[in-house]
Amino acid sequence: MEIRKFRYEDIESVYKIAEESLKEEYTMDLFLHLWQINPDGFLVAEKKGNVVGFITSIKTGSNELRILLLAVDKKYRGTGIGSSLLKRLMMNFPEVRRLYLETRIDNKKAIKFYEMHGFKIKEKLEDFYTDGSEAYLMEKIIF
Ligand SMILES: CC(C)(COP(=O)(O)OP(=O)(O)OC[C@H]1O[C@@H](n2cnc3c(N)ncnc32)[C@H](O)[C@@H]1OP(=O)(O)O)[C@@H](O)C(=O)NCCC(=O)NCCS
Repeated sequence: MEIRKFRYEDIESVYKIAEESLKEEYTMDLFLHLWQINPDGFLVAEKKGNVVGFITSIKTGSNELRILLLAVDKKYRGTGIGSSLLKRLMMNFPEVRRLYLETRIDNKKAIKFYEMHGFKIKEKLEDFYTDGSEAYLMEKIIF
């Protein structure tokens, strides 16, 4: 398995994984926009020539990174791919001291995953998703 930067030809695979894994709908244009504004913060995991997971993020301050989307193909979950994507993202931004993200409050697996990586729930955000459901704001401070 290789973690590398997103390339234009990955767009359909990333779109498909997002569609199957995430409740919100995201357009290909959105992914391309995210790639344009933060190319170092858009990574994919490739296994035997196939994209099997991705992570996207944006810089929201000189020392701050917001993780926007993280998803791994169902077949490959629980094998360390999500962890590798997150770790590589942090390596790409050594100056970052605060990482944060939002996740659905009923997404127990994701919450557990982020807690395992040192994130803590900071706040509940009402009416965060388009279906009106709530999110947890989770944060990791690097000293
Ligand atoms: C959340 C998500 C990205 C995690 O990715 P992942 O690749 O499954 O994560 P990892 O494999 O690195 O870690 C998950 C679990 O596998 C375990 N694991 C890690 N490496 C492993 C290995 N080599 N063999 C077996 N298990 C392993 C981890 O300890 C962890 O344990 P847990 O079952 O107690 O939680 C993935 O579940 C996903 O895509 N979910 C749907 C989309 C989503 O909810 N995204 C987050 C929204 S913000």
